[in-house]
Amino acid sequence: MTRHIVLLGPPGAGKGTQAKNLSKKLGLVHISSGDIFRENLRDKTELSQVAESYINKGELVPDDITIAMIGERLSRCDCDAGALLDGFPRTPPQAEALELMLADLNKGPIDIVPYIEVPEETIIERLTGRWTCRAHGHIFHQRYNPPQITGICDFDGSELYQRKDDLVETVTNRIRVYQQQTQPLIDYYRQRGLLVDVNGAQDIEAVFSDLLAALGED
Ligand code: AP5
Ligand code: MG
Repeated sequence: MTRHIVLLGPPGAGKGTQAKNLSKKLGLVHISSGDIFRENLRDKTELSQVAESYINKGELVPDDITIAMIGERLSRCDCDAGALLDGFPRTPPQAEALELMLADLNKGPIDIVPYIEVPEETIIERLTGRWTCRAHGHIFHQRYNPPQITGICDFDGSELYQRKDDLVETVTNRIRVYQQQTQPLIDYYRQRGLLVDVNGAQDIEAVFSDLLAALGED
């Protein structure tokens, strides 16, 4: 039996933070479209040449490129048991493509879509205080989830950096893009009976335990 979980929510809702913990707990692969794009940027791949300008402006990378990238990732054998998707889908065409890709790959459908909701003022504070690990994308916050040693990842000792798209102006644009292009997915999944609301405006542990309850886990 496969299990596919799609984490939905605005930038800074805590999708990545929760997905890292959930994937460990559930034994599911964590697929973050943003992390895959950033790995491409770091390695200066061909894909990064197209994607970089969109990402740095806080715009979405075009659907065809993003869908092909996730399709390739889902086809790998570590996704045989399913996957925890974070940051994809982000537009209605991506949501439709995901259903087709899962069917084409003979995988089970999407089981549940937890929607992590946070107010806009929280988003800015979370993103402008975020520190991200260069090697594996581990996530910290200078106030809410500080590393033990400033500037160093607790998990792998690599450097922590501030994402270029976490500058206030870019964050504002990401919120606008989210409202215009991604928010329609809330109704899309609610109408399909897949959406569960999770209050993201609580501390990290409380959000985690609400997510586990929503997923029917202990
Ligand atoms: P992506 O990396 O997906 O960015 P995002 O959706 O804007 O989300 P974030 O990663 O900023 O937030 P998050 O919800 O993961 O929060 P986090 O856990 O880090 O995408 C980046 C770019 O790539 C896009 O703008 C686009 O250009 C491109 N892209 C990606 N996917 C795409 C797609 N499908 N289609 C087209 N383009 C795509 O937490 C944030 C901070 O808050 C951290 O510091 C954390 O420590 C802290 N925090 C988390 N939870 C809490 C809490 N409960 N209380 C206090 N602090 C908390
Ligand atoms: Mg993220």
